Amino acid sequence: MLPAAACGKIILFGEHSAVYGHPALAVGIPEGMKVTGLAPCDGPIRIRVSPWDLRASEASDDLLGEVLRRLSRLVPGERLGMEVDLESRIPPGAGLGSSAALAVALVRCLARVRGKELPDEQVRLLAHKLEKVFHGRPSGLDDTVATYGGLCLFRRDGFRDSTHRSITGQAVRIPWSVPTLVVGDTKVQRSTAHMVAGVRRRWEDDTRRVEALFEEVDSCLADGLKALQREDPQGLGGAMSRNQDVLSRLGLSCPEIDEMIALAGREGASGAKLTGAGGGGGVVAVAPGREEKLKDAWRKAGFDAWAVSFNGSGRRDPT
Ligand code: PMV
Repeated sequence: MLPAAACGKIILFGEHSAVYGHPALAVGIPEGMKVTGLAPCDGPIRIRVSPWDLRASEASDDLLGEVLRRLSRLVPGERLGMEVDLESRIPPGAGLGSSAALAVALVRCLARVRGKELPDEQVRLLAHKLEKVFHGRPSGLDDTVATYGGLCLFRRDGFRDSTHRSITGQAVRIPWSVPTLVVGDTKVQRSTAHMVAGVRRRWEDDTRRVEALFEEVDSCLADGLKALQREDPQGLGGAMSRNQDVLSRLGLSCPEIDEMIALAGREGASGAKLTGAGGGGGVVAVAPGREEKLKDAWRKAGFDAWAVSFNGSGRRDPT
């Protein structure tokens, strides 16, 4: 039997502010990364990811080679390599957690090959170390959702007195269901590390202003949570649009994101925002009953788009 896969993620509220200790809410994309083939070997780790057309090995002289060398050092057990084939449902570099999903899948695969069944929390911790190679100083949100799936409320310093079940020291499980979301990719490439560094500069220049904007995000998140609890997609969309307005004021939007959001409005969506680091990458919309129309409109305008449904977010996604 092949090991469990890993989830992609859609950040509903709180990207960037999460890096500064504010809460963020994200939902796992079930089976964002699936394992389709796995064999132990004595040589270096080799991976293939379809449909990204990506091949790499521990000997590769690039970032992925560095990730694989780190992986080999981190995972306990017999010193074996592996050949692994992965199939991704999510595009790379689109703010949908592709690197964290890859990291979690690789940790699970190598642990299996080396005869270890690691608990999820250890998988997450090791994946977080790989995410550091990809992104510098990730908040941990992506690797949490990639490991556990479902709807997760995350905060770097954790939650005291939460009424929700904790899944890690930093995240609690929100037991409410998420409506079908429409996710789009601007196809504008950008680096998360670069976008995070840009916000850091703004925060250092004017901490009070940027913290005030982060507090506005906190209030959008609180409204979004209430809307999810009462199964109110209009309220959820409205709160997401307000979060987008703040992200835009932080300089994280771009013409393509603005165009996708305007199109979502014209197609009757209740709200839309960028998801992930911004400056390109992904957009997410709530468009109850109009998901297919919005998907078609985004595709017609030259963007990639998918409708993503969830199987009741209180449950762990089938991995
Ligand atoms: O674009 P992504 O999927 O790498 O998401 C980044 C989310 C940030 O909040 C901007 C960074 C982080 O580490 O949480």
